[in-house]
Amino acid sequence: MYRAIIFDLDGVITDTARYHYLAWKRLAEGLGVPFDEAFNEGLKGVDRMGSLDLILRRGGLDPDVAERLRLADQKNDDYRQLVATMTRADVLPGALEALEAARGLGLKVGLASVSKNAGTILERLEITSFFDVVADANLIRRGKPDPEIFLTVAEQMGIAPADCIGVEDAAVGVQAIKSAGMLAIGVGDPVILAQADRVVPSLVGFDLAALLKT
Ligand code: BG6
Ligand code: MG
Repeated sequence: MYRAIIFDLDGVITDTARYHYLAWKRLAEGLGVPFDEAFNEGLKGVDRMGSLDLILRRGGLDPDVAERLRLADQKNDDYRQLVATMTRADVLPGALEALEAARGLGLKVGLASVSKNAGTILERLEITSFFDVVADANLIRRGKPDPEIFLTVAEQMGIAPADCIGVEDAAVGVQAIKSAGMLAIGVGDPVILAQADRVVPSLVGFDLAALLKT
């Protein structure tokens, strides 16, 4: 019997994945580095400096640490401008129902995001109170695909990883859940999320009990 479910934020609960994409695209193209949806797929779930590193490597660029920090700040300023007007209406369809249904099944509900903006986004969406435990980039040292963020949430809940379910839209996120020893539910493309135990196209009509029977 599962006792907890731990959700990723960006791309699962809300479409901030789109805003990360737009902000990285602007930065990359400003540096002369080609950027498209396919390349962006590999950035999903990757933390800020890790994402920047992938873009710089793609462009064969190797700026010093100070310049890297400046570029990361520039992307984050753009991103924060894009998310500044978000409201409760930006919660993805089915997400609130999925959170409530999980609680109704007696599960603890957690959030595992490697975003330093996770707290701000939860506040903008007014959904902080839907979670028993929230872990973000400020609590961990290693980003996804390392399992640290999912293990941190499980530990704070006092629940064994094997009794937890993780929900992710990114391939590295699914890897993190599996490395944590949890059941992985992917949200999105079953080809991209092939390592997940189950994949759903979105959280619309999310029926955990039915999914666990399949
Ligand atoms: C993840 C996103 O949740 O957070 C990534 O999927 C993003 O795209 C990462 O780079 C870090 O976010 P932030 O807000 O700390 O730059
Ligand atoms: Mg995500």
